Amino acid sequence: MASIKFAVDGKAVTVNADPNMPLLYALRDDLKMGNPHFGCGLAQCGACTVHLEGEAVRSCVMPVSAVAGKKVTTLKGLGTPEKPHPLQAAYVQEQVPQCGYCINGWIMTAAAFLRDKKKPTDAEIKSALEGLKCRCGTHVSILKAVKRAATMMG
Ligand code: FES
Ligand code: FES
Repeated sequence: MASIKFAVDGKAVTVNADPNMPLLYALRDDLKMGNPHFGCGLAQCGACTVHLEGEAVRSCVMPVSAVAGKKVTTLKGLGTPEKPHPLQAAYVQEQVPQCGYCINGWIMTAAAFLRDKKKPTDAEIKSALEGLKCRCGTHVSILKAVKRAATMMG
């Protein structure tokens, strides 16, 4: 066991855990955060994505010890109902969600991409989001929402 200190959505937290435990477990089980989801546990689906120092990472395969002293941002920290991130607003405007399980992965991955890439082409968006899964088949709506958000952020 180790006492690991880091920041989540701007708040300092301490987790007492096996240093090799996945960050996802610390977020969901220790810190009771519901947004990063467990999908595959194998870095294959993206449902668990968070930002580590601004970069999108798959928290199911990241040891919690790797984030000691660092800043983690979750979907909850990206925006608020009053002031949503452009992607959160675009998801609502394009009525993307069905079951909603995959939303975390798409938005967190796209947010890091759009921060660095202004006016992306469709091909660039598809490439950046390659490997993410939506079992409900909302991919057409997701592309529309990401394009809408890109316009808002451009
Ligand atoms: S749960 Fe982490 S990538 Fe699927
Ligand atoms: S909305 Fe259901 S998995 Fe994507």
